[in-house]
Amino acid sequence: MTDMLIRAALAAREKAYAPYSRFHVGAALRCDDAIYSGCNVENAAYPQGSCAEAGAISAMVLAGGRQIDEIVIVGSGEAACTPCGGCRQRLREFSASDMRVIMVDTKGVILLETTLEALLPWSFGPENLA
Ligand code: THU
Repeated sequence: MTDMLIRAALAAREKAYAPYSRFHVGAALRCDDAIYSGCNVENAAYPQGSCAEAGAISAMVLAGGRQIDEIVIVGSGEAACTPCGGCRQRLREFSASDMRVIMVDTKGVILLETTLEALLPWSFGPENLA
C-alpha cells in the first residue's frame, strides 16, 4: 500500500500549481483503504496558497473519510519535505499519534519516515475539547 501511496503522491506533484515558489509538492494519504491525494495550489496573493496535504485532507473529508492511516509527501529538491506547522495540525485532526508520515524524493525513494507524534509533540486535538 505504501508503494501505491508513493505513486499517487508523485502523480499529484505533477499537477502542482506553484508558479511563485516553483516548489512542487504532492501528498497522498490512506483512509479506509482508499487513497486521497493533493497538490499545492499557490496564489498571486501569496498567503492564499494552499499546501498539498490540505488538498488531500479535503478530498478525504469530501468522500466521508475521517481517519488518516498513513501519508506520503513529496516536495522538490534534496531535503525531505516535512509538513509545515499548519499542516501538522491539520493532520492531527484526523490521525492517531502513531500515524506514519513518509517523505520521498521525486524518484519515490524514502528520505524520512516518522510519526505525527514526533512531528507535533504535546499537540492539541479534538480530545482536548471533549
Ligand atoms: N508546501 C506544501 O504544499 N506542503 C508542505 O509540506 C510544505 C510546503 C508548499 C506551500 C508552497 O506552495 C510551497 O510548498 C513552498 O512553500
